[in-house]
Amino acid sequence: MAESMKGLKRTHRCTEVSAANIGEVVTVMGWVQRRRNLGSLIFVDLRDRSGIIQLVFDTAEVGEEGFAKAGTLRSEFVIAAVGKVVKRSGAVNENLATGDIEIVVNELRILSEALTPPFPIEDDLATRDELRLKYRYLDLRRPKLQRNLMMRSKVAAATRNFLAEEGFLELETPMLTKSTPEGARDYLVPSRVHQGSFYALPQSPQLFKQLLMCSGYDRYYQIVKCFRDEDLRADRQPEFTQIDMELSFVDMDDVIDVNERLLARMFKEALDVEIPLPIPRMSWQEAMDRFGSDKPDIRFGFELKDVSEEVKNCGFSVFSGALAAGGTVRGINACGQGSLPRKKIDALVEFAKTYGAKGLAWIAIQPDGSLKSSFAKFMTQEELDAIVAKLEGKPGDLLLLAADKKTVVWNVLGALRCEIAKNLGLIHKDEYKFLWIVDFPLLEYSEEEDRYVAMHHPFTMPMEEDLPLLDTDPGKVRAKAYDITLNGVEIGGGSVRIYNSEIQEKMFEVLGFTKEQAYERFAFLLDAFKYGVPPHAGLAYGLDRLIMLMAKEDSIREVIAFPKVKDASCLMTNAPDVVDEKQLVELGIEISVPEK
Ligand code: AMO
Ligand code: AMP
Repeated sequence: MAESMKGLKRTHRCTEVSAANIGEVVTVMGWVQRRRNLGSLIFVDLRDRSGIIQLVFDTAEVGEEGFAKAGTLRSEFVIAAVGKVVKRSGAVNENLATGDIEIVVNELRILSEALTPPFPIEDDLATRDELRLKYRYLDLRRPKLQRNLMMRSKVAAATRNFLAEEGFLELETPMLTKSTPEGARDYLVPSRVHQGSFYALPQSPQLFKQLLMCSGYDRYYQIVKCFRDEDLRADRQPEFTQIDMELSFVDMDDVIDVNERLLARMFKEALDVEIPLPIPRMSWQEAMDRFGSDKPDIRFGFELKDVSEEVKNCGFSVFSGALAAGGTVRGINACGQGSLPRKKIDALVEFAKTYGAKGLAWIAIQPDGSLKSSFAKFMTQEELDAIVAKLEGKPGDLLLLAADKKTVVWNVLGALRCEIAKNLGLIHKDEYKFLWIVDFPLLEYSEEEDRYVAMHHPFTMPMEEDLPLLDTDPGKVRAKAYDITLNGVEIGGGSVRIYNSEIQEKMFEVLGFTKEQAYERFAFLLDAFKYGVPPHAGLAYGLDRLIMLMAKEDSIREVIAFPKVKDASCLMTNAPDVVDEKQLVELGIEISVPEK
């Protein structure tokens, strides 16, 4: 039976009680973690979001009736307990913040009984994800998730405080809006008033924040939900949160400066970790050439080396063929892995294939310096030696080589170096290696669409010195864009914006939009630019990704209260779901999907 908490007031969270309170009477409230009966004494671990404290029930203090009631407590009952704080009678529990004390209860109330949960409320349990997500409200009681979400709140608070101090205004932008240009598929919301028309949920507040700059708000930020209908991965959700900002009268260095100090503040306040500033910067080209990725994990080496020159005349058709087709041959040195068993090398080859490699050629340098290799028979000793020299191979090393189009080779070796580091246990989650990636190409060629597409978005400013190339060689134009990466994850990105309608129109032209098409979609922005627009620039973080790394988690699901699963559904609410016929009629919508 549920009792009232009338007359009681919680005085402390569980772990706010400490040895300093010994002798005081306190009132705590929370969930029963477990109960142990020891004949004349009953011990209960009480849990709230702060942690656990031990309650002791003794007939002498709580009375016969209270003792009997304590005997009925089961896991996840919600209770209130009033009692005196004492030094722990039994052994001190080093694992608990409150391990040296306990509360001798003189009043117990059961505020709510509980069914036996479908899984125990403990960390490190082997419960299936599906079950955890179906009962997310129980999963969220686990200490780890509580810590993650409390840290998330701390980061948000640090962000708000810091940006307010720096003169940023927190402003809101619409959720029901028009399609925005971040390149993913939109989530659409049908209009009842304008049947047949749809709002799009924002993929980001990009256009609105630029308009706020046109309106003179100077420095804007928002912690805001964004929506993108893309294939989900460990670091992607259909709705996710950005810390979004935009600044007027600034250039790239100003944005980088304020953001480095913001990151330092977040890490200091949430983790008490000092981030050394300034954060290093690397050009996109260097990142791709050295690490095969525009978000390189620089906690470990295994850098890519180009051996195209060394193998250009070799008899191995895999290499010579790739080079003849305009491709490249590059490799990495998995230092010290020369004695990796054949089976494990084969597993690396298979791994490479999942990233688009046709194969992976390898050389294992034996302790005596002789070479074992998958392709030795096609090569001269001089050619093999040249590869070894270029990759700085030493006895005991394993060299892995891929031949293909440059983008494929980058992708394959970029993934492979991370896989090897993971296998070797070289990835330390408490090491935070930030890196700015700068000098991005403005455009990338989309084979699929047979045209250039914007690498960031169409509002990114080309580098002034590259402007003439827009007409002659658009692929070579570099952008005033920057990404902030942490441990191999892109946690944020932004750019200096175009603020001149001629360049903006030119950009749309290069992207294959006619002037009419550009105006159809973005008239409000292009018009706004004609009424006085300040130079402006901005950036947005993926807050979920940042918290994932700060919490040392592998998936953003572990830092989002109510996440969705891979097929974008919510296992707890069953969203998305069918709706009433009446609602569809109001919206003028007819469903043509055959019923499942
Ligand atoms: P961008 O598209 O790079 O830039 O997004 C900014 C950051 O948001 C995070 N992110 C995501 N996180 C979780 N799930 C997703 N589906 C997802 N998609 C993106 C990433 C990314 O770095 N308007 C620009 C910013 C600007 O130019 O100011 C923008 O949205 O961490
Ligand atoms: P094959 O002649 O196809 O048996 O290949 C000989 C060796 O070259 C094997 O170790 C293959 O894994 C490797 N190989 C095949 N294609 C490629 C490629 N594109 N890049 C690097 N190595 C490859």
